[in-house]
Amino acid sequence: MEPLMFDDDMEPDDEHAFGGIWTRIKLEALEKYLVAFNTALSKQNFTRIYIDAFAGTGRCDITVDGEKISIDGSARRALATDPPFDKYCFIELSTKKSEALKALEAEYPGKSIDVIRDNANAALKKLCERYAWRNERAVLFLDPFGMHVDWMTLQAIAKTGAIDVWYLFPYSGLYRQAAKNADAMDSGKEQSITRLLGTDEWRQVFYTPKRQASLFGGDDGDEREADHHQMLNFVSKRLKELFPAVTDPKILYQAGDSKNPSGAPLFALYFAASNPSPKAYGLATNIAKGVLNAL
Ligand SMILES: C[S@@+](CC[C@H](N)C(=O)[O-])C[C@H]1O[C@@H](n2cnc3c(N)ncnc32)[C@H](O)[C@@H]1O
Repeated sequence: MEPLMFDDDMEPDDEHAFGGIWTRIKLEALEKYLVAFNTALSKQNFTRIYIDAFAGTGRCDITVDGEKISIDGSARRALATDPPFDKYCFIELSTKKSEALKALEAEYPGKSIDVIRDNANAALKKLCERYAWRNERAVLFLDPFGMHVDWMTLQAIAKTGAIDVWYLFPYSGLYRQAAKNADAMDSGKEQSITRLLGTDEWRQVFYTPKRQASLFGGDDGDEREADHHQMLNFVSKRLKELFPAVTDPKILYQAGDSKNPSGAPLFALYFAASNPSPKAYGLATNIAKGVLNAL
């Protein structure tokens, strides 16, 4: 379990503290979905809840085509959604960032905003248990910097049958942890991948035993032969085993400019619906696919 202590000056995952083009793309997708979700449910009697599990501050600093700009983050975009949500739940581990989120209450008077300073996994588990999920419907944004979402958390979310999820899957984190030569992976790295994917099957899928023993008879360790495509297919397969409907991911890259992204995938943006009713997940995924295809 991750510690609750969080030193704002020493973020463990500071490497992407400045976002890039992918930041804007994911936020635009989320924003469009939030409007469509509230519009589609506006004639029904559900309490509509927005849950942001890695909520940040409400603003994002990004660098696009060499230029540094500041844009509205997920929390502000959710608060500005029209038709609005009935409740907003912002989860954030950093004290400083939680205070910035609390300040949004004054900026958006009349909105029901709950700021929870906690580890997203612990807070989401409690939230899933807090409601009966008969009269509530929610959109959850999972936007971690790294491999912070435990599979058990996804299981709790799927079990509600009432939460639509946008998950910015940290592909580059997985790729880094799954070293080319299995000998370079310590048990901590292996456990973090298993926590992320909810199984240790990845070991067989990603790695192939070395055909030849080393010159001195030693074991050179297994090689990761799975490429990006195969690794992402495994992630998609796992999500599809858990949720009734999951879209193909939108791959988001780090390098290149906005028109010609390049390099290894940084993130994979997924939409997953937890409602088991074919009518409900069909509508939700159609909207999400429309949003993703337009990006
Ligand atoms: C990519 S940023 C989120 C940006 C935000 N969605 C936005 O659009 O403005 C990830 C956030 O997660 C927070 N964080 C990191 N680990 C966390 C954890 N285990 N639980 C909750 N928040 C965490 C970081 O402090 C950071 O603000």
